[in-house]
Amino acid sequence: MRTFEQLYGRPAEGEWAAPGRVNLIGEHTDYNLGFVLPIALPQTVRAQAARRADGRLRLWSAQSDGPVVDLPVAELAPGSAPGWTGYPAGVVWVLREAGHPVGGADLRLDSDVPGGAGLSSSAALECAVAAAYNDLYGLGLSAPELAVLAQRAENAFVGVPCGIMDQMASMCCRPGAALFLDSRDLTMRQVPVDLAGAGLALLVLDTRVKHDLGDGAYAALRAGCERAAALLGLPALRSLRPSGLADALGRLPAELVPLVRHVVTENARVEDAVARLDAGDLAALGPILTAGHASLRDDYQVSCPETDLAVEAALAAGAHGARMTGGGFGGSVIALVDAAAAGRVAAEVTAAFRAAGYAEPRTLTAVPAEGARRLG
Ligand code: GLA
Repeated sequence: MRTFEQLYGRPAEGEWAAPGRVNLIGEHTDYNLGFVLPIALPQTVRAQAARRADGRLRLWSAQSDGPVVDLPVAELAPGSAPGWTGYPAGVVWVLREAGHPVGGADLRLDSDVPGGAGLSSSAALECAVAAAYNDLYGLGLSAPELAVLAQRAENAFVGVPCGIMDQMASMCCRPGAALFLDSRDLTMRQVPVDLAGAGLALLVLDTRVKHDLGDGAYAALRAGCERAAALLGLPALRSLRPSGLADALGRLPAELVPLVRHVVTENARVEDAVARLDAGDLAALGPILTAGHASLRDDYQVSCPETDLAVEAALAAGAHGARMTGGGFGGSVIALVDAAAAGRVAAEVTAAFRAAGYAEPRTLTAVPAEGARRLG
């Protein structure tokens, strides 16, 4: 198989990067218009890109064995781009739908964001392409505007009803900070997270259990939350405060009770976590993370035996706190650990996986990194 460069040469106009993320706390709150607290990972999707005058979108990915995919931009429509090409093609489609004067491009894509690991490789791909097109075609869109367009591409073109967190994280995160985002109006604040200064590290344990939002479970959870909000006469579950929770739960059918309880308590956990970070007490995040995991496991029911084991083994090895991150159904766990203990905690989680007969987890260390940017 010949590579993009062998076929066409290296796209010359520039290169853009957009990161994956982990979310510290605030899971499944974004589509309920609540708070989230992600950090960007050092791992990115990179797009080498150049405009084309002939209206063709030519896509090649170093992670796919396939040939160059060549699509006519004017004929893009939901369902017209196969597999992973739906993400970049969806971004180009959504820009045109929004009335922006964009045409074709050569896009050569490469990534070190693990795919299917709950680390937001899809949003990173969308955002790298959105950032590239913004510059190539001189659109002058802001980072939040590009994030909203990228989310719309995933919702309307790819067909996954995701919230706004991943795209905002990939576009707007800053080094050394978590992004405290209000998903209702996209107001945000960069909250310093000096892990090294506090002698801490954030381990990412990818369970290698495939996380996939496209299988309907995510959509069903979102629909359940929207039904609960409608029954309660609220615009979104975000409007329900912990003080009103007990009364609201009494007015809901039994199957919606745990969903609502998770969203309301999780939203409060984000506010709590931000208060701890503002006070400089990073270790105090630990119990908040662990409580978040219990809520995702018992109430929202999006955890799985592997993520539960990773959390339990990390805590048994001395982590301050641990939880699954991202949508769930597999994916990754984050563990807040003393920096000096990071290697040992990772080794003990790996040993627990081996003893359980699971594939070994992949381990990364998360350092809050920079959002989407032009590399050259
Ligand atoms: C996925 C979605 C996000 C968010 C998380 C769960 O990552 O893309 O919008 O809903 O799940 O918090």
